[in-house]
Amino acid sequence: MSEKLTLIVQISDLHIKANGRLSYRQVDTGAALRQAIDTLNALQPQPDLVVLSGDLVDFGHPQEYQALRAALQQLKPPFRLMPGNHDDRQALREAFPDHVYLQTGETLNWRASVNGVTLLALDSSVPQQPWGYVDEAQLNWLETELSRQPQQPALVMLHHPPFHCGIGHMDRQRLRNPEALEAIVARHPQVERVLCGHLHRSVQVRFAGTLACSAPGLSHQVAFDLSENAPAHFVMEPPGFLLHRWHPQQGISTHLCAIGDYRGPYPFYDKNGLID
Ligand SMILES: [Fe+2]
Repeated sequence: MSEKLTLIVQISDLHIKANGRLSYRQVDTGAALRQAIDTLNALQPQPDLVVLSGDLVDFGHPQEYQALRAALQQLKPPFRLMPGNHDDRQALREAFPDHVYLQTGETLNWRASVNGVTLLALDSSVPQQPWGYVDEAQLNWLETELSRQPQQPALVMLHHPPFHCGIGHMDRQRLRNPEALEAIVARHPQVERVLCGHLHRSVQVRFAGTLACSAPGLSHQVAFDLSENAPAHFVMEPPGFLLHRWHPQQGISTHLCAIGDYRGPYPFYDKNGLID
């Protein structure tokens, strides 16, 4: 990896189950993760870090975390974990004792500095609840961390989106106190992105003077239905991930990348120019 380029991959909402069981009796999330790992292992250049932004497993069971751990052994780039509303903090910790950043505090917040980029992960999960919340101590921690290196670009990450997306049933389980997060992010212009999962769709929103993005699901996607009474349905649209590319002179660009086999690539040009 060039010293001048930093690649952070974000995958989200894996919903891994144990013993080959299907999520919602439909989705082979284990197979989806294996396919994603193959895709990530083939990326050139390789990512500096892969962040898993929550809903790592489906019901927070220890066996599910063991299945996740076994699958992730095939992933070549280093990775870090974040909890979502489907996760269980204690079971997650116990399954990944070597991930020392998960082992302290009640909530699972962590900081990493990756090749010139600061990553700040906030645990927005609330036990037994689908919606998200970050408490006073977490907000104080975020403010302190953002004050440490104001010149270094930062990605603030949490599972629950702090914004509305228009899909009613998802909007009702977003972050409950976005204003508190917004106030802090607005004071720290080095925050290049606020990154989340949970929506199982890629959505971009202006937030606190920066850009908030949600990652698509790694297997199933939330059905696209912009109505207040949209039923809580999912669809098997193509899975994907976000790739955040940082270059010191060019800034950060976020790519939505599809996972799966598609036709191509094909050339635009031949010896006569643009192909007609
Ligand atoms: Fe999810």
